[in-house]
Amino acid sequence: MLVEAGVDAFHVSGGGIDTYVSQVVCGDEFQTGYNTAGAEAIKRVVDVPVMVVGRVHDPHTAERILADQQADLVVFGRPFLADEDWPNKAREGRFDDIRRCISCETCIDALYLRPPALNEMNCAVNARTGRELTNQLTPTEHPKKVVAIGGGPGGMEAARVAAIRGHEVVLVEKNRRLGGALFFASVVHSDNEHFLEFLTKQVQSLPIDLRLGTEATADVVRAAEPDVVIVATGAQIATPPIAGDDLPHVFTGTQMRAMLADEVSPAATARLPWWQRAGLRLFGGAAQRHLTPGRVRALSRKYLPLGNSVAIIGADLAAVEVAEFLASLGRKVSILTDQARLAPEIGPKRRTEHMDHLDDYKVVVNSHVRIDEIQKDGVRITSSSGHSSVVEAESVIIAGEPVANESVFESMQGIAPEVYAIGDCTGLGLIRKATADAMEVACTI
Ligand SMILES: Cc1cc2nc3c(=O)[nH]c(=O)nc-3n(C[C@H](O)[C@H](O)[C@H](O)COP(=O)(O)OP(=O)(O)OC[C@H]3O[C@@H](n4cnc5c(N)ncnc54)[C@H](O)[C@@H]3O)c2cc1C
Ligand SMILES: Cc1cc2nc3c(=O)[nH]c(=O)nc-3n(C[C@H](O)[C@H](O)[C@H](O)COP(=O)(O)O)c2cc1C
Ligand code: SF4
Repeated sequence: MLVEAGVDAFHVSGGGIDTYVSQVVCGDEFQTGYNTAGAEAIKRVVDVPVMVVGRVHDPHTAERILADQQADLVVFGRPFLADEDWPNKAREGRFDDIRRCISCETCIDALYLRPPALNEMNCAVNARTGRELTNQLTPTEHPKKVVAIGGGPGGMEAARVAAIRGHEVVLVEKNRRLGGALFFASVVHSDNEHFLEFLTKQVQSLPIDLRLGTEATADVVRAAEPDVVIVATGAQIATPPIAGDDLPHVFTGTQMRAMLADEVSPAATARLPWWQRAGLRLFGGAAQRHLTPGRVRALSRKYLPLGNSVAIIGADLAAVEVAEFLASLGRKVSILTDQARLAPEIGPKRRTEHMDHLDDYKVVVNSHVRIDEIQKDGVRITSSSGHSSVVEAESVIIAGEPVANESVFESMQGIAPEVYAIGDCTGLGLIRKATADAMEVACTI
């Protein structure tokens, strides 16, 4: 009837207007190309072109949709914010060079957020988006020796852009693996892994002197005789003292990260039961060099050094994602926080998605409560109305709060004419701030 009425083509999306709960701009709870079945159904009954949009984020999927005649045209939204060269790279077969959208909703949340200063187009993984005129990757006329400290997204992006512009770049990372906090972010939220893979491949393929397993002390950096030092050493995790936090079933966020890094000390694990220590050996030490977030996820499905019920004390995005991840592995998870709101550092669209995930996974959220004491069988809390209760838990994770840590930045003063601090070491700002800071510095040096 619509074709007879004059419709020339159909564009199959998830709704007419985006609200926080629509199916237009979607996160990773919607599978790749989630509108394709709808498009295919329409294509079967009409003889005009059918277009499809929505989480078709890689050229292979797009090609398959066309080859299988599920649609006549594939339409892209966020992929082109994440990489303005996406079509050219696809045409040239440079698939690994495509910086994929991670469906983090930073771009759409930027439109919702006010005041107007924040209401600009931007992208977490591509700091050129909305800043095309200022963030230009023009070749430098004065090549400098640049030392970037920290192999997280901030340090890797700074190294990448500085190297593209023709600077001589050294990237120093104290762990034997790149990624920083983005590695953990990629374990618990798999779409983040696209960005980790992109940055890792770029850093490895550009002329960058990559020094893994090297702690950047003042002496190490001075020896490199840099003109520019870019410090991207990440946040420090502040863990509030809580009565009972020394019990054997309690982990901190820092310990959880150490398990997946090179930092599992025998002292830190001595108090754990043998079966938990055995599990940690799977992930820790030298084995961590071979771990990818995908492998950690796969191993976690077989073994986790945590009990069946887990209480997470904390409310930031990392705590929420860890809760979802553990719940997806079949654990009974509770979030306990003295804050009124979860994940305050993300925008409304992304937060709505996480609230839906928590509902779907039946994660129990106790917000705005006082955390009184961790006990052998759980955590004693008091609600804002004064009611005291124990939330049962076989394991407890104190997520802690990422806070600024400029100690390395301060120790680098005077070593080079230009010293900059970027990313989370100046305060938590997620992937978006790490890449934005990195791009700004690397485009101006
Ligand atoms: C579980 C979890 C989930 C998250 N989920 C998300 C998410 O979904 N979306 C999002 O946007 N953000 C997320 N984040 C936050 C995000 O990962 C960080 O904001 C981001 O990685 C910060 O980047 P950075 O480069 O500033 O620091 P980091 O990623 O912390 O990297 C710092 C690096 O510096 C290295 N380093 C420190 N000191 C030295 C030294 N002296 N010498 C050499 N190297 C040194 C460290 O080993 C580390 O590799 C999450 C974080 C966690 C922990
Ligand atoms: C920042 C932003 C702004 C958008 N604005 C519009 C719009 O004005 N009209 C529209 O039909 N869709 C809009 N969309 C939705 C996209 O067209 C697309 O349907 C959606 O992002 C899903 O596709 P993708 O996964 O390729 O991004 C917008 C999306 C984003 C991220
Ligand atoms: S901000 Fe996030 S969702 Fe938006 S285009 Fe960039 S990576 Fe994709």
